[in-house]
Amino acid sequence: MMNNNILEVNNLSVSYGNIVALRNVSIKVPRGKIIAVLGANGGGKTTLLKKISGLIDAVGGEVIYEGNEITKLPAEKITKQGIIQSPEGRQIFGDLSVEENLKIGAFTITKDKEKHQSRKTVLKNNLERVYKYFPVLKERKSQIAKTLSGGEQQMLAISRALMGTPKLLILDEPSLGLAPLIVRDIFSIVKELNKEGTTVLIIEQNALQTLKISDYAYVLQVGEVIMEGNSKELLQDQQLVESYLGK
Ligand SMILES: Nc1ncnc2c1ncn2[C@@H]1O[C@H](COP(=O)(O)OP(=O)(O)OP(=O)(O)O)[C@@H](O)[C@H]1O
Ligand SMILES: [Mg+2]
Repeated sequence: MMNNNILEVNNLSVSYGNIVALRNVSIKVPRGKIIAVLGANGGGKTTLLKKISGLIDAVGGEVIYEGNEITKLPAEKITKQGIIQSPEGRQIFGDLSVEENLKIGAFTITKDKEKHQSRKTVLKNNLERVYKYFPVLKERKSQIAKTLSGGEQQMLAISRALMGTPKLLILDEPSLGLAPLIVRDIFSIVKELNKEGTTVLIIEQNALQTLKISDYAYVLQVGEVIMEGNSKELLQDQQLVESYLGK
């Protein structure tokens, strides 16, 4: 039977020297869903993403993608297989233009054998798709990226990830430092992307908004999953939303 989960993390542990950043963490990301990982600062959220993307080593446990173990694969191989992340703190190339940044995001794409499209066509289609979602980036495609506003830079970071045609899009705190209206825009675009077929793993501290757009959520605290459940049900848990997650 085909496995319904695009990604499974099983009993993952990660340490930085003596500091245990993740302890026996297990999460499942079913194909086609939006899965959230919530929790306060230092909980281990970014560490989890870095491990999934192959940027750090694990002490124990495994990461399974599309049914294959990828725990020890290098980052480039993982990206090529379609796990693409928009990292914390955006990390765009400040001295390059918007469109140059987007083209860098497309470096892993190849021709689409199923649709019989050349690499050039795939690139053009991805660029059109990104500009459809974020028209402001089209207007500003020649602008030097570091002069974009914070919200625009976040849009660029997400768009750059989209340029690589992710099967699993990973977002690390897309709402960080943004005004509520822009957060709402970005979250509704994430929802739309998901409706068009992209599976999303989203890391956030903005629990309320994230629970509204996600299907299932995990709460990480000091390296451990302390709670998980359907997002709708977690939203009903006033105490959880207030005391563990802030607003
Ligand atoms: N390279 C590193 N060396 C040593 N300790 C690290 C390193 N990276 C992270 N840590 C520690 O691991 C713990 C988890 O950090 P991580 O960045 O995963 O948390 P986070 O949940 O993403 O937090 P935030 O919400 O602040 O981004 C923290 O205590 C952090 O100080
Ligand atoms: Mg983090």
